[in-house]
Amino acid sequence: YVTPLLVPPVMPRTSKVRTRAGKNIDHYVIAVREFDQQILPAGMPATTVWGYGPVDPQNKGLAIHNAPSLTIEARHGEPLRVTWVNDLVDDGGGYLPHLLAVDPTLHWANPPGGTDGRDSRPHHTETPESYDGPVPIVTHVHGAVGVGDESDGYAEAWFLPDAHDIDPDYAREGTWYDFFAAKAEALQGSGWVPGTATAEYPNQQRASTLWYHDHTLGMTRLNVYAGPAGFYIIRGGPEGDDAVLDSRTGKRAELPGPGPRRNDRYPATKRYLEIPLAIQDRSFNQDGSLFYPDTREFFDGVPGPYLPHTDVSPIWNPEFFGNTLMVNGNTWPYLDVEQRRYRFRLLNGCNSRFLVLDFSGIPGAGVWQIGSEGGFLPEPVEITGEANRSRLLLGPAERAEIIVDFSAVPPGRHVLRNLGPDEPFGGGEPELEPGDDDGFHPADPATTGQVMQFRVTPARGPDRTTPPEFLTMPSIAPLTGGSVRRLALIEMMSEHFEDAPSEALLGRVEDDGRWVAHEWTDPVTENPHVGETETWEFYNTTGDAHPIHVHEIHFQVIDREPVVVDEETGTVGLADGSRARPPDPGEEGWKDTVIAYPGEVTRVRIRFDAEGQFVWHCHIVEHEDNGMMRPYRIGPVQE
Ligand code: C2O
Ligand code: CU
Repeated sequence: YVTPLLVPPVMPRTSKVRTRAGKNIDHYVIAVREFDQQILPAGMPATTVWGYGPVDPQNKGLAIHNAPSLTIEARHGEPLRVTWVNDLVDDGGGYLPHLLAVDPTLHWANPPGGTDGRDSRPHHTETPESYDGPVPIVTHVHGAVGVGDESDGYAEAWFLPDAHDIDPDYAREGTWYDFFAAKAEALQGSGWVPGTATAEYPNQQRASTLWYHDHTLGMTRLNVYAGPAGFYIIRGGPEGDDAVLDSRTGKRAELPGPGPRRNDRYPATKRYLEIPLAIQDRSFNQDGSLFYPDTREFFDGVPGPYLPHTDVSPIWNPEFFGNTLMVNGNTWPYLDVEQRRYRFRLLNGCNSRFLVLDFSGIPGAGVWQIGSEGGFLPEPVEITGEANRSRLLLGPAERAEIIVDFSAVPPGRHVLRNLGPDEPFGGGEPELEPGDDDGFHPADPATTGQVMQFRVTPARGPDRTTPPEFLTMPSIAPLTGGSVRRLALIEMMSEHFEDAPSEALLGRVEDDGRWVAHEWTDPVTENPHVGETETWEFYNTTGDAHPIHVHEIHFQVIDREPVVVDEETGTVGLADGSRARPPDPGEEGWKDTVIAYPGEVTRVRIRFDAEGQFVWHCHIVEHEDNGMMRPYRIGPVQE
């Protein structure tokens, strides 16, 4: 704990732009670039990473790039436009190859293979090596509601940088790029420039903590691991901070703040009381470079090297668990805090790891969850205190807003711990004592079992914020009715290696209980009508928990119920006499990602408001990259 926590500054806007409807809105030009960053403690080598940062309109130079990237600050009801630039080029204008080994046997963006990756793999047979061409990128704002599909960062709308040395036979863009580019141009009237994509975000949704990251087909795990991800915070509106009341007075409550603002100096000199925390696991090589496995040996001992034309891709690992925890781009940072209340916006930005944050190492801390992916919960949920276990579970991509009250924490240094395992997660309790056996193995207490340190000092001045137990939050009307879709989460085992998963898939559960797997390329099967409400049931036929994310909407978690999975017949159904259990208190608000546990069906209710082609997927990005993502369509199916 030698590095102070970095509080990501606010992304500067580039200009104002007039929409077709005649509205003046903010326009950002944001580029993904490669740079070195001190992620490890000072004195250790720096790490080459990628990150999003503003393009300076004056000199087209670099303002600030960081991993995690700068925070996009949006206001409820005010749309904004972003031109995303793939600037992974070197000083001479040539393309930069990937920092990590790219497995070209997956169904991925595959620029050399033309536009249809899987069926044309010309470079696989001869050269059993990872891809070293230019890097495809496409950005998704995770949690954005009501965006047009041209702006959603569809996995096949990727594009290459505008580098001069790209093989002319390479596809410069994914199969859906032109379709969406034409649509965006018609809507926005902005021209299309090679190496860019322009998107517009309506920000009509509740005040909430979103995040943005790469979403390229078959390589999201690598692109996001290399760094490009940032917060996107929507403030204001009828369900924002101003709508939270103090139950003692009935007046507007006081929440801890401020957070970083647009014109704050960088690095920050201000004292922030509202801070986003992106928690991610990473591993490093001796020279400081990022480690991500390039053989399957890492995961299950299936030996390398790369073996084309088997159903196993030995470069692809079914999950990845780093051996360090990084918060806001530094391993094990510390934060100076006073004995007062703070508001944190937490993001699990790990590739595969479920986090089980454990506040019991901060004696006297009072912790309340006040929000989830879709903004405020209907009421604050106490995490600490006699009746609770001081733990907060976050699956990959889930967010939680919490208030931590340090006023009764003794001055000194205290560590926020993590129990979330260094291996796949199946739910249940941590096995803290030898002999416990129906839970999970907690993370190594010496490394990934620790997240960050709080250095507590006496408060300077009184704390006028409302104690969390007196917060009255805006209410949430439950969605009702709608038809039911029975969906399946499936894992395929290799025919060539024992106990080696070859891919993860999504599919449907038929009336007779048989599950049917679909590939990414299969026709759309989830096709709700515009304006309709549906219940989506995720039947988990696998042995692990999966965080399921649906683009474009926020949903309500209804319940979970035990199921029986019969591998022989490939069927799944409700267990005899099974009873549904309600969502956890922290899941009572709007969400965009939900944990589907093994041995259960998880039900969510969704209203689909706007037409378009989107995706739903598992947010263990290794799964997402190798089959566990499907297109879905609101409204008539596109040919
Ligand atoms: Cu966070 Cu579809 O992604
Ligand atoms: Cu999964």
